[in-house]
Amino acid sequence: MTLILGIETSCDETAAAVIADGRTIFSSVVASQVELHRQYGGVFPEMASRQHVLSIIPVVRQAMANARVSWDDLAAIAVTHGPGLAGSLLVGVNAAKGLAYGRGLALIGINHIEAHIATNWLQVGAVEEAVQRSGAQIQLPKGSQEADRFEASFPLLCLIVSGGHTDLILMEDYGAYKGLGGTIDDAAGEAFDKVARLLDLGYPGGPAIQRAAERGSPHAFSFPRARTDRSYDFSFSGLKTAVLRTVQRYEPDVQRSADKVPQADGSRRERTLHPQVVADMAASFQAAVVDVLVEKTCQAADEHGVVGVLLAGGVAANQALREKLKAALRVPLRMPPVALATDNATGVGVAGYWALRRGQVHGWDLDVVPRLQLA
Ligand code: KG4
Ligand code: ZN
Repeated sequence: MTLILGIETSCDETAAAVIADGRTIFSSVVASQVELHRQYGGVFPEMASRQHVLSIIPVVRQAMANARVSWDDLAAIAVTHGPGLAGSLLVGVNAAKGLAYGRGLALIGINHIEAHIATNWLQVGAVEEAVQRSGAQIQLPKGSQEADRFEASFPLLCLIVSGGHTDLILMEDYGAYKGLGGTIDDAAGEAFDKVARLLDLGYPGGPAIQRAAERGSPHAFSFPRARTDRSYDFSFSGLKTAVLRTVQRYEPDVQRSADKVPQADGSRRERTLHPQVVADMAASFQAAVVDVLVEKTCQAADEHGVVGVLLAGGVAANQALREKLKAALRVPLRMPPVALATDNATGVGVAGYWALRRGQVHGWDLDVVPRLQLA
Protein backbone atom coordinates (compact mmCIF):
# COMPACT_ATOMS: atom_id res chain seq x y z
CA MET A 1 0.00 0.00 0.00
CA THR A 2 1.33 3.43 -0.96
CA LEU A 3 0.34 6.12 1.52
CA ILE A 4 0.69 9.80 0.68
CA LEU A 5 0.18 12.81 2.90
CA GLY A 6 -1.36 15.63 0.87
CA ILE A 7 -1.18 19.26 1.98
CA GLU A 8 -3.23 22.14 0.52
CA THR A 9 -2.95 25.84 1.40
CA SER A 10 -3.41 27.58 -1.96
CA CYS A 11 -6.24 29.89 -0.90
CA ASP A 12 -8.27 30.04 2.30
CA GLU A 13 -8.51 26.44 3.47
CA THR A 14 -5.73 24.77 5.43
CA ALA A 15 -6.06 21.09 4.57
CA ALA A 16 -4.26 17.78 4.94
CA ALA A 17 -5.25 14.26 3.92
CA VAL A 18 -3.79 10.77 3.95
CA ILE A 19 -4.58 8.82 0.78
CA ALA A 20 -3.91 5.14 0.09
CA ASP A 21 -2.98 3.96 -3.42
CA GLY A 22 -4.41 7.11 -4.98
CA ARG A 23 -7.92 5.84 -4.23
CA THR A 24 -8.89 5.62 -0.59
CA ILE A 25 -9.18 8.44 1.92
CA PHE A 26 -7.68 7.43 5.26
CA SER A 27 -8.24 10.94 6.59
CA SER A 28 -9.17 14.40 5.38
CA VAL A 29 -9.02 17.47 7.58
CA VAL A 30 -10.01 20.95 6.40
CA ALA A 31 -9.66 24.06 8.57
CA SER A 32 -11.86 26.59 6.82
CA GLN A 33 -11.14 30.31 7.08
CA VAL A 34 -14.58 31.29 5.79
CA GLU A 35 -15.61 32.96 9.06
CA LEU A 36 -12.40 34.99 9.11
CA HIS A 37 -12.89 36.32 5.59
CA ARG A 38 -16.66 36.74 5.69
CA GLN A 39 -16.39 40.21 7.24
CA TYR A 40 -14.32 41.33 4.23
CA GLY A 41 -16.71 39.79 1.67
CA GLY A 42 -13.81 37.88 0.10
CA VAL A 43 -10.42 36.37 0.79
CA PHE A 44 -8.01 38.79 2.47
CA PRO A 45 -4.62 37.38 1.36
CA GLU A 46 -2.48 38.47 4.32
CA MET A 47 -4.99 37.20 6.84
CA ALA A 48 -5.12 33.93 4.90
CA SER A 49 -1.40 33.28 5.08
CA ARG A 50 -1.24 34.20 8.76
CA GLN A 51 -4.08 31.80 9.51
CA HIS A 52 -2.37 29.03 7.52
CA VAL A 53 0.72 29.49 9.71
CA LEU A 54 -1.43 28.96 12.81
CA SER A 55 -3.39 26.00 11.41
CA ILE A 56 -0.95 23.98 9.34
CA ILE A 57 0.74 21.89 12.03
CA PRO A 58 -2.47 21.10 13.97
CA VAL A 59 -4.21 20.16 10.70
CA VAL A 60 -1.37 17.85 9.58
CA ARG A 61 -1.19 16.26 13.03
CA GLN A 62 -4.94 15.67 12.99
CA ALA A 63 -4.82 14.12 9.52
CA MET A 64 -2.07 11.72 10.63
CA ALA A 65 -3.90 10.87 13.86
CA ASN A 66 -7.25 10.30 12.10
CA ALA A 67 -5.59 8.05 9.52
CA ARG A 68 -3.93 6.07 12.32
CA VAL A 69 -0.71 5.79 10.38
CA SER A 70 2.84 6.66 11.39
CA TRP A 71 5.32 8.78 9.50
CA ASP A 72 7.26 5.63 8.61
CA ASP A 73 4.20 4.33 6.75
CA LEU A 74 4.22 7.24 4.30
CA ALA A 75 5.81 7.05 0.85
CA ALA A 76 5.78 10.78 0.13
CA ILE A 77 4.41 14.19 1.00
CA ALA A 78 2.56 15.96 -1.82
CA VAL A 79 1.80 19.66 -1.59
CA THR A 80 0.02 22.25 -3.73
CA HIS A 81 2.67 24.64 -5.06
CA GLY A 82 0.46 26.65 -7.44
CA PRO A 83 -1.63 28.26 -8.72
CA GLY A 84 -2.89 30.30 -5.79
CA LEU A 85 -1.98 33.08 -3.38
CA ALA A 86 1.81 33.28 -2.98
CA GLY A 87 1.78 33.85 0.78
CA SER A 88 -0.70 31.02 1.33
CA LEU A 89 1.13 28.55 -0.92
CA LEU A 90 4.41 29.30 0.85
CA VAL A 91 3.08 28.07 4.17
CA GLY A 92 2.08 24.66 2.78
CA VAL A 93 5.18 24.22 0.66
CA ASN A 94 7.56 25.12 3.49
CA ALA A 95 5.72 22.87 5.95
CA ALA A 96 5.84 20.00 3.43
CA LYS A 97 9.54 20.56 2.79
CA GLY A 98 10.38 20.61 6.49
CA LEU A 99 8.34 17.49 7.20
CA ALA A 100 9.65 15.58 4.18
CA TYR A 101 13.26 16.52 4.93
CA GLY A 102 12.93 15.70 8.62
CA ARG A 103 11.25 12.34 7.98
CA GLY A 104 13.31 11.35 4.94
CA LEU A 105 10.28 11.31 2.60
CA ALA A 106 9.93 12.17 -1.07
CA LEU A 107 8.50 15.63 -1.81
CA ILE A 108 6.04 16.17 -4.66
CA GLY A 109 4.71 19.55 -5.83
CA ILE A 110 1.18 19.35 -7.21
CA ASN A 111 -0.81 21.73 -9.40
CA HIS A 112 -4.00 22.79 -7.57
CA ILE A 113 -6.13 22.26 -10.69
CA GLU A 114 -4.76 18.75 -11.12
CA ALA A 115 -5.64 18.09 -7.47
CA HIS A 116 -9.24 19.17 -8.13
CA ILE A 117 -9.43 16.82 -11.15
CA ALA A 118 -7.83 14.00 -9.16
CA THR A 119 -10.64 13.95 -6.57
CA ASN A 120 -12.54 12.08 -9.29
CA TRP A 121 -10.35 8.98 -8.83
CA LEU A 122 -11.35 8.59 -5.20
CA GLN A 123 -13.37 5.53 -4.33
CA VAL A 124 -16.41 7.01 -2.72
CA GLY A 125 -17.86 3.81 -1.23
CA ALA A 126 -14.55 2.98 0.37
CA VAL A 127 -14.28 6.60 1.35
CA GLU A 128 -17.44 6.42 3.43
CA GLU A 129 -16.00 3.56 5.45
CA ALA A 130 -12.61 5.19 5.78
CA VAL A 131 -14.17 8.45 6.86
CA GLN A 132 -16.17 6.69 9.56
CA ARG A 133 -13.09 4.76 10.70
CA SER A 134 -10.95 7.88 10.84
CA GLY A 135 -13.56 10.16 12.38
CA ALA A 136 -12.81 12.82 9.75
CA GLN A 137 -15.11 15.81 9.74
CA ILE A 138 -16.51 15.47 6.25
CA GLN A 139 -19.96 14.52 5.08
CA LEU A 140 -20.25 12.21 2.10
CA PRO A 141 -23.36 11.37 0.13
CA LYS A 142 -24.84 7.91 0.34
CA GLY A 143 -25.27 5.64 -2.64
CA SER A 144 -22.22 6.69 -4.58
CA GLN A 145 -21.12 3.12 -5.21
CA GLU A 146 -21.88 3.44 -8.90
CA ALA A 147 -18.93 5.79 -9.18
CA ASP A 148 -16.62 3.16 -7.72
CA ARG A 149 -16.96 0.96 -10.78
CA PHE A 150 -15.40 3.69 -12.87
CA GLU A 151 -12.14 2.63 -14.47
CA ALA A 152 -10.14 5.32 -16.14
CA SER A 153 -9.82 5.22 -19.88
CA PHE A 154 -8.83 8.17 -22.01
CA PRO A 155 -9.27 10.71 -23.52
CA LEU A 156 -11.36 12.48 -20.91
CA LEU A 157 -12.61 16.03 -20.88
CA CYS A 158 -12.23 18.02 -17.64
CA LEU A 159 -14.39 21.01 -16.79
CA ILE A 160 -12.72 22.89 -13.95
CA VAL A 161 -14.89 25.53 -12.34
CA SER A 162 -13.55 27.23 -9.23
CA GLY A 163 -13.04 30.64 -7.69
CA GLY A 164 -9.96 31.22 -9.85
CA HIS A 165 -10.53 29.03 -12.92
CA THR A 166 -12.99 28.06 -15.63
CA ASP A 167 -11.10 25.68 -17.87
CA LEU A 168 -11.90 23.00 -20.41
CA ILE A 169 -8.98 20.60 -20.48
CA LEU A 170 -8.47 17.46 -22.53
CA MET A 171 -6.86 14.72 -20.44
CA GLU A 172 -5.05 12.14 -22.56
CA ASP A 173 -3.56 10.17 -19.64
CA TYR A 174 -2.72 10.66 -15.97
CA GLY A 175 -0.63 13.82 -15.96
CA ALA A 176 -1.14 14.57 -19.70
CA TYR A 177 -3.29 17.66 -20.19
CA LYS A 178 -4.14 19.89 -23.15
CA GLY A 179 -5.96 23.18 -22.62
CA LEU A 180 -8.95 23.75 -24.91
CA GLY A 181 -10.17 27.03 -23.45
CA GLY A 182 -10.63 29.10 -20.35
CA THR A 183 -12.22 32.25 -19.07
CA ILE A 184 -11.17 35.54 -20.60
CA ASP A 185 -12.33 37.54 -17.56
CA ASP A 186 -14.03 36.33 -14.36
CA ALA A 187 -13.95 32.69 -13.30
CA ALA A 188 -17.31 30.98 -12.75
CA GLY A 189 -16.92 30.89 -8.96
CA GLU A 190 -15.75 34.49 -8.99
CA ALA A 191 -18.94 35.43 -10.86
CA PHE A 192 -21.03 33.63 -8.21
CA ASP A 193 -19.14 35.47 -5.46
CA LYS A 194 -19.49 38.88 -7.15
CA VAL A 195 -23.18 38.51 -7.97
CA ALA A 196 -23.84 37.32 -4.40
CA ARG A 197 -22.19 40.55 -3.24
CA LEU A 198 -24.47 42.57 -5.55
CA LEU A 199 -27.50 40.80 -4.10
CA ASP A 200 -26.26 41.11 -0.50
CA LEU A 201 -26.22 37.34 -0.15
CA GLY A 202 -22.89 37.16 1.65
CA TYR A 203 -19.70 35.15 1.25
CA PRO A 204 -18.93 32.61 -0.13
CA GLY A 205 -21.33 33.46 -2.91
CA GLY A 206 -21.77 30.08 -4.64
CA PRO A 207 -23.67 28.28 -1.90
CA ALA A 208 -25.62 31.49 -1.09
CA ILE A 209 -26.77 31.91 -4.70
CA GLN A 210 -27.70 28.23 -4.90
CA ARG A 211 -29.83 28.53 -1.76
CA ALA A 212 -31.53 31.74 -2.92
CA ALA A 213 -32.11 30.26 -6.39
CA GLU A 214 -34.16 27.42 -4.92
CA ARG A 215 -36.94 29.92 -4.21
CA GLY A 216 -36.66 31.77 -7.53
CA SER A 217 -37.47 31.28 -11.20
CA PRO A 218 -34.64 30.76 -13.70
CA HIS A 219 -36.88 32.36 -16.35
CA ALA A 220 -37.68 35.56 -14.44
CA PHE A 221 -34.84 37.54 -16.02
CA SER A 222 -33.18 36.89 -19.35
CA PHE A 223 -29.49 37.35 -18.65
CA PRO A 224 -26.92 37.01 -21.47
CA ARG A 225 -25.13 33.79 -22.41
CA ALA A 226 -21.81 35.12 -23.66
CA ARG A 227 -20.43 34.10 -27.03
CA THR A 228 -16.64 34.22 -27.23
CA ASP A 229 -14.34 34.28 -30.26
CA ARG A 230 -12.67 31.00 -29.38
CA SER A 231 -15.39 28.45 -28.95
CA TYR A 232 -14.13 26.92 -25.71
CA ASP A 233 -13.37 30.19 -23.95
CA PHE A 234 -15.75 31.66 -21.39
CA SER A 235 -16.71 35.17 -20.35
CA PHE A 236 -18.78 35.99 -17.28
CA SER A 237 -18.17 39.68 -16.80
CA GLY A 238 -20.99 40.75 -19.17
CA LEU A 239 -23.39 38.59 -17.21
CA LYS A 240 -22.23 40.16 -13.96
CA THR A 241 -22.78 43.62 -15.44
CA ALA A 242 -26.26 42.62 -16.65
CA VAL A 243 -27.16 41.62 -13.09
CA LEU A 244 -25.76 44.93 -11.82
CA ARG A 245 -27.87 46.90 -14.35
CA THR A 246 -30.98 44.97 -13.36
CA VAL A 247 -30.36 45.62 -9.67
CA GLN A 248 -29.89 49.29 -10.46
CA ARG A 249 -33.31 49.37 -12.16
CA TYR A 250 -34.83 48.37 -8.83
CA GLU A 251 -32.61 50.62 -6.76
CA PRO A 252 -31.61 53.64 -8.88
CA ASP A 253 -30.33 55.56 -5.85
CA VAL A 254 -28.06 52.91 -4.37
CA GLN A 255 -24.38 52.65 -5.30
CA ARG A 256 -23.36 49.07 -5.92
CA SER A 257 -20.23 47.40 -7.17
CA ALA A 258 -19.62 43.73 -7.76
CA ASP A 259 -15.87 44.14 -7.79
CA LYS A 260 -15.43 46.31 -4.73
CA VAL A 261 -15.33 44.40 -1.49
CA PRO A 262 -17.58 45.99 1.15
CA GLN A 263 -15.89 47.47 4.19
CA ALA A 264 -15.88 45.62 7.47
CA ASP A 265 -16.79 48.78 9.36
CA GLY A 266 -20.52 48.36 9.38
CA SER A 267 -21.04 50.78 6.49
CA ARG A 268 -23.05 48.26 4.48
CA ARG A 269 -26.27 49.49 2.93
CA GLU A 270 -29.70 48.58 4.12
CA ARG A 271 -31.12 45.71 2.09
CA THR A 272 -33.97 47.04 -0.03
CA LEU A 273 -34.43 44.46 -2.79
CA HIS A 274 -37.49 42.30 -2.31
CA PRO A 275 -36.47 38.73 -1.35
CA GLN A 276 -38.44 37.29 -4.29
CA VAL A 277 -36.60 39.57 -6.72
CA VAL A 278 -33.29 38.46 -5.19
CA ALA A 279 -34.32 34.80 -5.50
CA ASP A 280 -35.40 35.29 -9.14
CA MET A 281 -32.18 37.09 -10.01
CA ALA A 282 -30.11 34.40 -8.30
CA ALA A 283 -31.97 31.65 -10.17
CA SER A 284 -31.75 33.45 -13.52
CA PHE A 285 -28.05 34.19 -13.03
CA GLN A 286 -27.29 30.60 -12.02
CA ALA A 287 -29.19 29.31 -15.05
CA ALA A 288 -27.15 31.56 -17.38
CA VAL A 289 -23.83 30.30 -15.94
CA VAL A 290 -24.94 26.67 -16.03
CA ASP A 291 -26.27 26.92 -19.62
CA VAL A 292 -22.95 28.21 -20.96
CA LEU A 293 -20.89 25.66 -19.02
CA VAL A 294 -23.11 22.78 -20.14
CA GLU A 295 -23.29 23.87 -23.78
CA LYS A 296 -19.55 24.28 -24.26
CA THR A 297 -18.70 21.12 -22.34
CA CYS A 298 -21.08 19.06 -24.51
CA GLN A 299 -19.67 20.63 -27.66
CA ALA A 300 -16.06 19.90 -26.63
CA ALA A 301 -16.96 16.35 -25.55
CA ASP A 302 -18.51 15.65 -28.97
CA GLU A 303 -15.75 17.29 -30.98
CA HIS A 304 -12.93 15.47 -29.19
CA GLY A 305 -14.67 12.12 -28.95
CA VAL A 306 -13.96 11.73 -25.25
CA VAL A 307 -15.02 8.63 -23.32
CA GLY A 308 -16.12 10.62 -20.28
CA VAL A 309 -16.21 14.00 -18.60
CA LEU A 310 -14.76 14.96 -15.22
CA LEU A 311 -16.23 17.90 -13.33
CA ALA A 312 -14.05 19.55 -10.68
CA GLY A 313 -13.51 22.68 -8.57
CA GLY A 314 -15.64 24.49 -6.00
CA VAL A 315 -18.50 25.24 -8.43
CA ALA A 316 -18.79 21.48 -9.01
CA ALA A 317 -20.71 21.59 -5.72
CA ASN A 318 -23.51 23.38 -7.55
CA GLN A 319 -26.56 21.13 -7.77
CA ALA A 320 -28.03 22.73 -10.91
CA LEU A 321 -24.72 22.32 -12.74
CA ARG A 322 -24.35 18.69 -11.63
CA GLU A 323 -27.86 17.78 -12.75
CA LYS A 324 -27.95 19.70 -16.05
CA LEU A 325 -24.51 18.52 -17.13
CA LYS A 326 -25.29 14.90 -16.34
CA ALA A 327 -28.57 15.10 -18.27
CA ALA A 328 -27.03 16.81 -21.30
CA LEU A 329 -23.90 14.71 -21.85
CA ARG A 330 -23.86 11.67 -24.11
CA VAL A 331 -20.87 10.21 -22.24
CA PRO A 332 -20.58 9.37 -18.52
CA LEU A 333 -19.97 12.24 -16.13
CA ARG A 334 -17.84 11.75 -13.06
CA MET A 335 -17.86 14.35 -10.32
CA PRO A 336 -16.55 14.49 -6.76
CA PRO A 337 -18.99 14.28 -3.85
CA VAL A 338 -20.12 17.81 -2.95
CA ALA A 339 -17.99 17.70 0.20
CA LEU A 340 -14.85 17.16 -1.88
CA ALA A 341 -15.59 19.75 -4.60
CA THR A 342 -14.32 22.78 -2.69
CA ASP A 343 -10.70 23.01 -1.58
CA ASN A 344 -9.36 20.07 0.42
CA ALA A 345 -6.21 17.94 0.34
CA THR A 346 -7.56 14.58 -0.87
CA GLY A 347 -6.88 15.35 -4.54
CA VAL A 348 -3.35 16.44 -3.67
CA GLY A 349 -2.74 12.97 -2.23
CA VAL A 350 -4.28 11.30 -5.30
CA ALA A 351 -2.32 13.42 -7.79
CA GLY A 352 0.79 12.80 -5.65
CA TYR A 353 0.29 9.06 -6.04
CA TRP A 354 0.18 9.27 -9.84
CA ALA A 355 3.17 11.64 -9.90
CA LEU A 356 5.13 9.20 -7.72
CA ARG A 357 4.26 6.34 -10.07
CA ARG A 358 5.68 8.40 -12.93
CA GLY A 359 8.80 9.15 -10.86
CA GLN A 360 7.98 12.84 -10.71
CA VAL A 361 9.39 13.96 -7.38
CA HIS A 362 10.82 17.36 -6.55
CA GLY A 363 14.03 18.53 -4.90
CA TRP A 364 14.34 20.80 -1.87
CA ASP A 365 14.32 23.78 -4.24
CA LEU A 366 10.58 23.26 -4.92
CA ASP A 367 9.10 26.73 -5.04
CA VAL A 368 5.62 28.23 -5.13
CA VAL A 369 4.34 29.27 -8.57
CA PRO A 370 1.28 31.52 -8.05
CA ARG A 371 0.41 31.39 -11.77
CA LEU A 372 1.30 27.76 -12.40
CA GLN A 373 -0.35 26.44 -15.57
CA LEU A 374 -1.63 22.91 -16.05
CA ALA A 375 -1.99 23.01 -19.80
O1 KG4 B 1 -12.16 25.26 -5.67
P1 KG4 B 1 -12.53 26.26 -4.65
O2 KG4 B 1 -12.88 25.78 -3.25
O3 KG4 B 1 -11.41 27.34 -4.49
C1 KG4 B 1 -10.65 27.77 -5.59
O4 KG4 B 1 -9.74 27.01 -6.01
O5 KG4 B 1 -11.01 28.84 -6.11
O6 KG4 B 1 -13.76 27.08 -5.26
C2 KG4 B 1 -14.35 28.10 -4.54
C3 KG4 B 1 -15.46 28.67 -5.38
C4 KG4 B 1 -16.06 29.94 -4.78
O7 KG4 B 1 -16.10 30.92 -5.78
C5 KG4 B 1 -17.44 29.50 -4.36
O8 KG4 B 1 -18.41 30.54 -4.41
C6 KG4 B 1 -17.74 28.42 -5.38
O9 KG4 B 1 -16.53 27.73 -5.52
N1 KG4 B 1 -18.79 27.49 -4.91
C7 KG4 B 1 -19.99 27.34 -5.53
C8 KG4 B 1 -20.74 26.44 -4.73
N2 KG4 B 1 -19.95 26.06 -3.68
C9 KG4 B 1 -18.77 26.71 -3.81
N3 KG4 B 1 -20.49 27.90 -6.64
C10 KG4 B 1 -21.74 27.57 -7.01
N4 KG4 B 1 -22.52 26.73 -6.29
C11 KG4 B 1 -22.07 26.14 -5.16
N5 KG4 B 1 -22.84 25.31 -4.47
ZN1 ZN C 1 -9.66 25.18 -5.62
